[in-house]
Amino acid sequence: MCGIVGYVGPRSALDVVIGGLRRLEYRGYDSGGVALVHDGTIAWAKKQGKLANLDKELAERPLPESHTGVGHTRWATHGPPSDRNAHPHLDAANRIAIVHNGIIENFADLRAGLEARGYEMVSDTDSETVAHLIAEQLDADDIELTEAVRRVVQQLRGAFTLVITDAQQPGVVVGARRSSPLVAGRGDGENFLASDVAAFIDYTREAIELGQDQIVTITCDDIVVIDFDGAAGDVNDFHVDWDASAAEKGGYDWFMLKEIDEQPRAVADTLLGRHSRDGALQLDEMRLSDDELREIDKIIIVACGTASYAGLVAKYAIEHWTRIPCEVELASEFRYRDPILGRSTLVVAISQSGETMDTLMAIRHARQQRARVLAICNTNGSTIPRESDAVIYTHAGPEVAVASTKGFLSQLVACYLLGLYLAQARGTKYGDEIASMMAELEAIPAGIQRLLDDAGPVRELARELSGERSVLFLGRHTGYPVALEGALKLKELAYLHAEGFAAGELKHGPIALIEDGLPVFVIVPPRGRDQLHEKVVSNIQEIRARGARTIVLVEDGDDVVTEYADTVIRLPRAPTLLQPLLATVPLQIFAAELADTLGCDVDQPRNLAKSVTVE
Ligand code: M6R
Repeated sequence: MCGIVGYVGPRSALDVVIGGLRRLEYRGYDSGGVALVHDGTIAWAKKQGKLANLDKELAERPLPESHTGVGHTRWATHGPPSDRNAHPHLDAANRIAIVHNGIIENFADLRAGLEARGYEMVSDTDSETVAHLIAEQLDADDIELTEAVRRVVQQLRGAFTLVITDAQQPGVVVGARRSSPLVAGRGDGENFLASDVAAFIDYTREAIELGQDQIVTITCDDIVVIDFDGAAGDVNDFHVDWDASAAEKGGYDWFMLKEIDEQPRAVADTLLGRHSRDGALQLDEMRLSDDELREIDKIIIVACGTASYAGLVAKYAIEHWTRIPCEVELASEFRYRDPILGRSTLVVAISQSGETMDTLMAIRHARQQRARVLAICNTNGSTIPRESDAVIYTHAGPEVAVASTKGFLSQLVACYLLGLYLAQARGTKYGDEIASMMAELEAIPAGIQRLLDDAGPVRELARELSGERSVLFLGRHTGYPVALEGALKLKELAYLHAEGFAAGELKHGPIALIEDGLPVFVIVPPRGRDQLHEKVVSNIQEIRARGARTIVLVEDGDDVVTEYADTVIRLPRAPTLLQPLLATVPLQIFAAELADTLGCDVDQPRNLAKSVTVE
């Protein structure tokens, strides 16, 4: 939610900042802006809409050469998207430029105070107050920008990342963070600040995780971190294990299509190196001992959106393998119901970005109640793993498209690894059973690749159905979260009414929606020893009898359903618990193709942002 960049160094600050914003545009695209220190003042440009509008503005009204700059790409919270509300925000004297991500909860009081002291606001944002407050501090006392920022952040409530530059201190950019992301990039004679390492990956892969309530000052040669009280701050250096090419489209029209195609790699990389020499499962960042894992008597998974569907799949696997009761809860609901937590509760937070505010607040609440927290996350240096007791990193590489694809599949893999690891630690599965499930997992990338190679008919189906107004998705057991994910993809990408249902629930109401020709996707579980398969076959017959157009995802060799299917999508064979890793893929391709056919922006759907850092 909002992307922020700051730069000090010998390059053109405009080029670095604009390049960084382009990499961060997935975080918000309501407006973009840049501010540069030049000749004792601030030169700036900002424009409503995507960065292309800012590019046009800069072409018509070029900014002067500068080596110190900040930039912002916005997802609007306070004040509608407009040029006026775009960041950077400046003080009246054009001395201070600030960019902000987050929400300053007490901004109305701060604003009223400033107005009473004669300051005039030119925007509707909470952020502008900060520019005036910092300028006020600098005008009142002979202090440096870092100290002015330190004094001001103590007055702020809420979540914020701020990046600030002062026309009277060229060569200095200051950042501050509370509950919103900020990382520093360590260059050679240049340094960077950004919401995400992607912004500076072209220049350096050496980064610094900034902690809660820290202030960072960058110059060409130094990065200095203090806390809000002015004491030296602890920081963690880390090396980014992917390079600039991973954050580029690489010949694809959309990042999402590239990320769908990267899924065999993402799954394989997330599985890589998880065996110790003796064949046991090992999770390097687990940080919880087997004794601690044996004490767990309840698991609660908290997550949002697609990540919460990974959690629903995890519930089936974890309960089956470990016999530990496992609940799944939307992170935004979790802490408001006063959940019963204790030292023997394991809270698992799933988040691709590691910055989702609802999930972050849920784990903070869980830790206050003494629960242990384990994060499943794709983003090194992000807040959720840093604030957790343990972490399983997914190794999907950067996910840029707003709609999660490889992020979801790699979250599923991490959930399976967690379930098997718990089973190993608690002895609820034998070593050979765990090894055999690992072998099934290791076969999945080839299965995904086959689905990608055979995707032509799915794309054709999407084009054929592009005139539909509504699409339903049905599944049972692990097929149910897949149905929810299929529907979410279609809603967010193609703005189409889509619903996912547990197939057994249909007869309790939703079957009334079925009418002639309504497309209904059904995820059919593999034929096993239980009755799951035949129940779903009955559900297909029920909806077909009422006129639905049935599109059936079914494993190779299962011909029982074909006579009730208008369209059959074949899935490689896999155990029921692992089937979501395969069944999700055609649904992603379907949604992306349909959205593209309708002329929607596949990577940056309307009203959305990749990482939701407000509650
Ligand atoms: O970064 P996170 O995994 O915490 O994000 C959670 C959701 O915001 C995210 O999965 C969202 O639902 C995606 N747009 C789905 O494609």
